[in-house]
Amino acid sequence: MNKGLLAATIISISYSSAVFASESCDDTALNGYMESIKSEIGLLSSDVKSGNNTSASHRVDTVISYFKKSRNEIPYKFSAEKLQGNKLEEQKAEYIKVVDDTIVILEKLEKALESDDMTQVKSLFGQIGAQRKLGHGSFKANC
Ligand code: HEM
Repeated sequence: MNKGLLAATIISISYSSAVFASESCDDTALNGYMESIKSEIGLLSSDVKSGNNTSASHRVDTVISYFKKSRNEIPYKFSAEKLQGNKLEEQKAEYIKVVDDTIVILEKLEKALESDDMTQVKSLFGQIGAQRKLGHGSFKANC
């Protein structure tokens, strides 16, 4: 094998094993669920703006189901920072708590939409935005 071909082979092997051995930052199942949450919330807010609260409340159910899936995942940041032992367990528990609190807010949003309580809907949207900020500030890797 000539030197150039050998080098190309080594590069391609190490590249592919790096890709398959570990997930990259934007390639996680959690990221996929989050992207779905983002688009569903976008559609949900359009529904609310056009007065379609019934459709919006169904979308809240979908968002909750993605958060339930997200609850079973571990943020990429924890492995990027090589967290282990107690520290890892603490961070996992905190992450689950923020997800659970978010689900409780979404359940309230669903009830508010069903009873057309728009003052409450607005306030709950604000609370969901705050959970997003908290969740990303604490658990999203900087990459
Ligand atoms: C409810 C509103 C939320 C929306 C719309 C949302 C949206 C997103 C989006 C679009 C991403 C992909 C990366 C990016 O573009 O920034 C992402 C990533 C991420 N989000 Fe959220 N998010 C929300 C709430 C949360 C909450 C409450 C948590 C934590 C409890 C959380 C934790 C994360 C983490 C950890 C990542 C990085 C993915 C990974 O580590 O694999 N997000 N989010």
